[in-house]
Amino acid sequence: MSTVVVTGGAGYIGSHGVNALAASGHRIVVYDDLSAGHEEAVRLLAERYGTDTVRFERADIADVDRMRAVLRRDQVDAVMHFAAWLSVGDSVRNPIGYYRNNVWGALSVLEAMAAEHVGIFVFSSTAAVFGDPVETPITEDHPKQPINPYGETKLAIERALPHFERAYGIRSVVLRYFNAAGADPGGLLGEDHNPEQHLIPLALAATDGGALRVFGQDYPTPDGTCLRDYIHVADLGDAHLRALEHLRNGKASTAYNLRNGQPTSVRQIIETVERVTGRQVSWSVAPPREGDPAVLFASSARIRRELGWAPRFEDLDTIVRTAAAWRDRHPRGYAGRG
Ligand code: UFG
Repeated sequence: MSTVVVTGGAGYIGSHGVNALAASGHRIVVYDDLSAGHEEAVRLLAERYGTDTVRFERADIADVDRMRAVLRRDQVDAVMHFAAWLSVGDSVRNPIGYYRNNVWGALSVLEAMAAEHVGIFVFSSTAAVFGDPVETPITEDHPKQPINPYGETKLAIERALPHFERAYGIRSVVLRYFNAAGADPGGLLGEDHNPEQHLIPLALAATDGGALRVFGQDYPTPDGTCLRDYIHVADLGDAHLRALEHLRNGKASTAYNLRNGQPTSVRQIIETVERVTGRQVSWSVAPPREGDPAVLFASSARIRRELGWAPRFEDLDTIVRTAAAWRDRHPRGYAGRG
């Protein structure tokens, strides 16, 4: 059986991708240096699916020789590349780190793939490649003008991929997602960033001791706070699986935007967290955050049409409920388990 390398498979979205792959019978090597991921997430996945199905390689994506050895030894035919830095604000302060990790790191993975004749690449990209939307919903053909280094680094790889296909035969699917949220409905995996910067986990933390700062309330939106599309992380896992099958079936390279439902405001998230948990969110208004567009949401008509993907956990209450359930059982994240 062929094997998939999942870089960043110990991270939040990557681990849910591994869960989706393993549940549908794929064999996986999680390739992660644990700089942001959690060994415990991989251990839990290996415990659930067996160490033959989920194998862990603790290594750096920039280590081309190490990646080549893994691709050879495990008879890998595809790579899903999740490993990257992901904070817009940090990328403005530390572009070198973002270019090193997100551009050089991804190019190193592609170099290893080219050398070992591995021809399938599923790439985690982002809404940030579009910059300030000129129209919403954002389709795949919307102009790409990133307004921060994070978006630039992801777009640099998107733009490199056609050249890698021509020269080395690496076909790819680019998946651009917006606000990944929620936790494994089965309760195995969840969101644990350090430091946490995402809205839903911060709002949950603000129901018992934390305090949420709402970045701006004078945006041109119905309640003055930013509108985003929150998509369940398990639905992202399913999209990755379908992208892999598309490429394994010999289909052409492409890119898809992933959208869940209606745009949701920061205030609506707070209300949902309060309703679902029955607890009050402690919050206050803070100045707008640099680089935050007022409205960001996509059209996912293309992936629905071409791959038959549709979100299964569309309802915002469900998204928040799964995140809250994981947090209740793991108040200190993976480190607090047991
Ligand atoms: N927000 C707050 N307070 C916080 C954190 C967030 O008000 O403490 C607001 C933000 O201003 C934004 C919304 O909540 O309006 C969502 O913010 P997140 O930080 O959770 O997510 P982003 O929309 O900033 O980022 C997401 C992805 C990025 C991707 C980006 C595209 O996490 O990887 O969308 O713009 F690049």
